[in-house]
Amino acid sequence: MNVAIKDSVAAEFAKVDDVIVELLQSDVEMVENIGHYIIKAGGKRMRPLLVLLSAKALGGIEDAHIRFAAVVEFIHTATLLHDDVVDLSTLRRGMPTANAEFGNAPSVLVGDFIYTRAFQLMVGLANMPLLAHMAETTNTIAAGEVMQLVHAGDPDTQADQYQEIIRRKTAALFAAACHGAALLHDASADKANALHDFGMHLGIAFQLADDLLDYAGNPDETGKNIGDDLSEGKITLPLLHAMKVGAEKDRRFVADTLRNKEGGAFADIMAIVQRTGGIEATREAALHHQHIAIAALDVLESNEATAALGMMANRAVDRQG
Ligand code: IPE
Ligand code: IPE
Ligand code: MG
Ligand code: MG
Repeated sequence: MNVAIKDSVAAEFAKVDDVIVELLQSDVEMVENIGHYIIKAGGKRMRPLLVLLSAKALGGIEDAHIRFAAVVEFIHTATLLHDDVVDLSTLRRGMPTANAEFGNAPSVLVGDFIYTRAFQLMVGLANMPLLAHMAETTNTIAAGEVMQLVHAGDPDTQADQYQEIIRRKTAALFAAACHGAALLHDASADKANALHDFGMHLGIAFQLADDLLDYAGNPDETGKNIGDDLSEGKITLPLLHAMKVGAEKDRRFVADTLRNKEGGAFADIMAIVQRTGGIEATREAALHHQHIAIAALDVLESNEATAALGMMANRAVDRQG
């Protein structure tokens, strides 16, 4: 993440990392080992940044926002630990995934620890609307991941079903990061809703870009392998588009590859995706949501933090990592 975006919240951003380390403390050594392993690997920390910038855009960052930012990163981290087990992924943040390094069972169980630790901290914030919102959001993410699993290997998955999956599994947490900051501020409903919409559309744009990078990205920059989605029979927009506009032969090949989860066919599938303009179509869809996100910011005061939120949205699509 570019320094200029973080500039206005640099001091608070550093404090979020301190809270994260504090929260990972456990008398069970494996929890600390795996927790530190994934947290120290870095990550862009986009969601905590959204919390801090949303709070600042509304008037200021309070201690509760810093703690809430750590909660949101914790929920994200727990979903990653689980997601990499489910997706059989071996590379994340440029390092072997926790499941590759420590095994599936430890990853799932430490993921549970991190999820529940996030809720312990939230109880400490003693804000019932926020707690309710995050309980709802976490449940939505889980349902999104299940929905995705149900559709894995199903070439008949429709575009609106795909859209719903990415809304739930990814965008809901982006929206909650922004909206939660507003709840902690007791902001007016129009500002809270604007931040919610901003986060939601930013999250959709971000996941569309992630799905594009799963085909066209460079592992040195994304820190993740390409082709994971195809190996898992995950139907994403590059493939939906290829099946929509491709010739009958191409359509059948994509459908069969998805059904059989044939990761080995990546080069052939990539050729079809390129021929049918699947990368451009995915980028266009992401840009559409990026624009809606940016427009939502109009309701907020224009200040340094609101501008930084706009910059985050601007970088969500044409990113390499
Ligand atoms: C990865 O999120 C999961 C998706 C929603 C695509 P990030 O790309 O924000 O992951 P890190 O935290 O920067 O590693
Ligand atoms: C996002 O989907 C996963 C979560 C929101 C947990 P992906 O499966 O595409 O994310 P990556 O590519 O593994 O980071
Ligand atoms: Mg994954
Ligand atoms: Mg992905």
